[in-house]
Amino acid sequence: MKLADNKATLSFSNGSPSVDLPVYQGNVGPDVVDIRKLYAQTGMFTYDPGFLSTASCQSAITYIDGDKGELLYRGYPIEQLATNCDFMETCHLLLYGELPNPTQKADFTKLVTNHTMVNEQMQFFLRGFRRDAHPMAIMTGLVGALSAFYHDSTDITNPQHREIAAIRLIAKMPTLVAMAYKYTIGQPYMYPKNNLSYAGNFLHMMFATPCEEYVVSPVLERALDRIFTLHADHEQNASTSTVRLCGSSGTNPFAAIAAGVACLWGPAHGGANEACLNMLTDIQKMGGVAKVGEFMEKVKDKNSGVKLMGFGHRVYKNYDPRAKLMQETCKEVLAELGLENDPLFKLAMALEKIALEDDYFVSRKLYPNVDFYSGIVQRAIGIPTPLFTAVFALARTSGWIAQLNEMIGDPEYKIGRPRQLFTGSEKRDVKPIATR
Ligand code: CMC
Repeated sequence: MKLADNKATLSFSNGSPSVDLPVYQGNVGPDVVDIRKLYAQTGMFTYDPGFLSTASCQSAITYIDGDKGELLYRGYPIEQLATNCDFMETCHLLLYGELPNPTQKADFTKLVTNHTMVNEQMQFFLRGFRRDAHPMAIMTGLVGALSAFYHDSTDITNPQHREIAAIRLIAKMPTLVAMAYKYTIGQPYMYPKNNLSYAGNFLHMMFATPCEEYVVSPVLERALDRIFTLHADHEQNASTSTVRLCGSSGTNPFAAIAAGVACLWGPAHGGANEACLNMLTDIQKMGGVAKVGEFMEKVKDKNSGVKLMGFGHRVYKNYDPRAKLMQETCKEVLAELGLENDPLFKLAMALEKIALEDDYFVSRKLYPNVDFYSGIVQRAIGIPTPLFTAVFALARTSGWIAQLNEMIGDPEYKIGRPRQLFTGSEKRDVKPIATR
C-alpha cells in the first residue's frame, strides 16, 4: 500500500487529544484512512453498518468507478473483455492477473475441462433434497459438500491446494447447477462432454437427454459465455465479502464459496435476476405495458414495499456497464430466436424508459443493473427462472475464488471480526424463575 503525503486528523469536541491517522492511496479511486490503531489510541470504534464508507481489504482484481459507470477486471474494461475474450480467458485473468496467450489458454482450458466431472457419490447426496427444492438451496448444499469429497484441496495454507480447489470449483459449478436442474425436473443427469466449450458444455448438461443428440447453438453458447463474463467478479460485493469473511477463519475453500452462494441468493443481490423476471411476469399478467405507470407509482410509494427489481446499486450512480452489454445480448438472442416481439423485453424497455425520465429515479441516481436484462436472456436460452441465480453463482465462483486466494496471500490478512455499538441491557442478575 502506498502512503499518501497527507494524513487525517481526528479531533473531538470534548477536549480529548486529537489523533493522526495514516492515509493510503490506491492506484485509482478514493484514498483510505487507516483506522486500525484507532481503538488502541482512543478506545473508540468506527460505526459503519452496511460498509457505506469502509474498505474491508486491499485488492488488485476488480475496480468499479460508480460515477462513470466503469468496470475493470485487472485493468481491462468489461466491454473489451465481453467482446474480445471468452470466459476461460476471463477466469485466467482473474486468477492469475493476466490474460492468457494461446498456449496458456489451451493449458488452462484443458485443466478446467479435466475437472468437470463430480464424484459419483454426489448424486446420492442430491437425492436427499425434495424435488421441488429451490436450486439455490441445493447449490448451497452441493458446494459445501464438495469439501467432503475433495480432501486433497482443503488446506488453505498450501498454495497447491488453493490452486486445485480454484480449478475444481470453476470446473464443477456448471455440472452441479445442471445436476440441480435435472434433479428438479426428474431427468437423468448428463455427464460433461469435454470436447465442448465451457458454456457449450453447460448447455449440453442442461438440455441434452440420453435419448437424442443435442447440438449446441453457437449463438446461445456465445450469449451464455458473455453472461458468465459479465458476472465473473464485482469487487467487494456482499457475497464476495462473505466469502472473504468466511475464509478468514481458515475454513476450506468449498465451505467459503458455499457461504458466498448462500449470500448471493438474496433478492437485494444475485436473487434480483429471478425477482426481476417474476416482477415482469406479474406486470405482464396485470396488463403489460399499459400497467407500467400504475406499477411505477407503487414503486415510488415508500409504504408499498415494492421495488423496481434490477434497478439501483450501492456503487453505480450511473448506468451499470454490464446492463448495457446485457441489453445488447438480449437483443441479439431474441433476434436469433425470432423473439423480437418478446413481451417481457418490451415491458422491460418501457419500464427502463420511464424510470430514466422520472425524478424519483433520476434524483436517486437509480439505473438498470446487470440483473434487469439477464433474466430475459436466460429465459430465452431456456433456463427456468428459479435457476437464474444459480447461473450467476456459477459465473461468480471465478471471482469469489480469485478474491479468496488473494486474501490468503495478503500478509495483512487477519480473521474478519467487526466490533459493535452495544445498545442492549447493562449487566444484571438472574432472578429465580418464580419471581420473574
Ligand atoms: N426501486 C425503488 N427504489 C429504490 C430502488 C429500487 N430498485 N433501489 C434503491 N431505491 C431507493 C431507496 O428506497 C432509497 O430511497 P430514499 O433515499 O428515499 O430512502 C434510495 O433509492 C437509495 O437506495 P438504498 O436502498 O439506500 O441503496 P443501497 O445501496 O442500500 O441498496 C440495492 C442497493 C441494490 C440493494 C437497491 O438498489 C435495491 O434493492 N435494488 C433492487 C434489487 C436489485 O436489483 N439488486 C441487484 C443489485 S446489482 C447485482 C447484484 O448485486 O447482484
